[in-house]
Amino acid sequence: MTGQPNGEDLKQKLSELDQQATAEIAEAKSDAELDQIRVKYLSKKGEVTAILRSLGSVSPDIRPQIGALANDLRNKIEEAIERRKSEILQQKIEMERYAFDPTVPPTRTATGSLHPITIVSRELEDIFRGMGFTVVDGPELETDYYNFEALNTPKEHPARDMQDTYWVSDILLLRTQTSACQVRAMEKLGAPLRIITPGRCFRNEDIDASHENTFFQLEGLLVDRDVSIANLIYVMKTMLSEVFKSDVTVRLRPGYFPFVEPGFELDIKCLICSGEGCPTCGRSGWVELVPCGMVHPNVLRYGGVDPEEFSGFAFGLGLTRLVMMKYGISDIRVLNSGDLRSLSQFGIIDAQSS
Ligand code: DAH
Repeated sequence: MTGQPNGEDLKQKLSELDQQATAEIAEAKSDAELDQIRVKYLSKKGEVTAILRSLGSVSPDIRPQIGALANDLRNKIEEAIERRKSEILQQKIEMERYAFDPTVPPTRTATGSLHPITIVSRELEDIFRGMGFTVVDGPELETDYYNFEALNTPKEHPARDMQDTYWVSDILLLRTQTSACQVRAMEKLGAPLRIITPGRCFRNEDIDASHENTFFQLEGLLVDRDVSIANLIYVMKTMLSEVFKSDVTVRLRPGYFPFVEPGFELDIKCLICSGEGCPTCGRSGWVELVPCGMVHPNVLRYGGVDPEEFSGFAFGLGLTRLVMMKYGISDIRVLNSGDLRSLSQFGIIDAQSS
């Protein structure tokens, strides 16, 4: 008889669907696969649903039994799908946990580095502190008085021509030299004193590989009783030997600066060629490094210090120049460029400052 499905056949069919679905669910690897299985068996057109729908044509005596079996299977498949889904989720969590391997080196985060000027400036500060100097600071926006006048460089003095700068008003300018701190320091600290003052200076320069409108100097001033040129030479030699980590030979040549008398250019014997002559020292064997001299009595007076009782020496180290020599930087523009590819090469991280 075609009209009425046979009870045994239906049981057989249900049992087959049971096995088939159980196997497929166990094999499934993702929620998406499981959803497909649900569709295949339990959706409106699903295979289990088809049997439930056909119950109407099943003979009434076996209908409840088949109906119960089909419903059980429906629930069983539903539960098996949910169970498998949570298994898959659990496996995923486990895998992620074990995906963390503590032996893999960490990805490095980029850390900043100190600017070479800062590195050398701090090194110099340490050296000078060791010789009893105090580190002081002064303003970059300076008055005509401290930058020139009090340094024995009155208006119309020809020495001003060499230090053209940016004027902000008739009396305010961007300082051309850290020497501007000399009189400020004497006013504040009196004599005797030993100070250094590193800082940024400005001049109206055409920029090229060796000229910048913004550069750094490190000024030093020592005022005491009976200070002599020998003291000046000793301090300079000690400082330079420590900076270059080798004994340096120095020589003094006369040099003119209005605020020192006598004034000198201190040269060091070229460290590249040991004085033989090379391109770095212009074949002279010597490199001009520190202008310096004995403080002019007028400057002491401007600072409120009695030149009859005290004398002193001052020097103006070209910090930018020194950094270039120390690291072999041939183009000054690198230093103000903010180009991290260049600047980070010198980068020691200063643990204390971070
Ligand atoms: N301030 C001078 C300049 O920038 C350099 C200088 C020369 C500083 C002699 C000094 C010194 O302290 O004694 O050209």
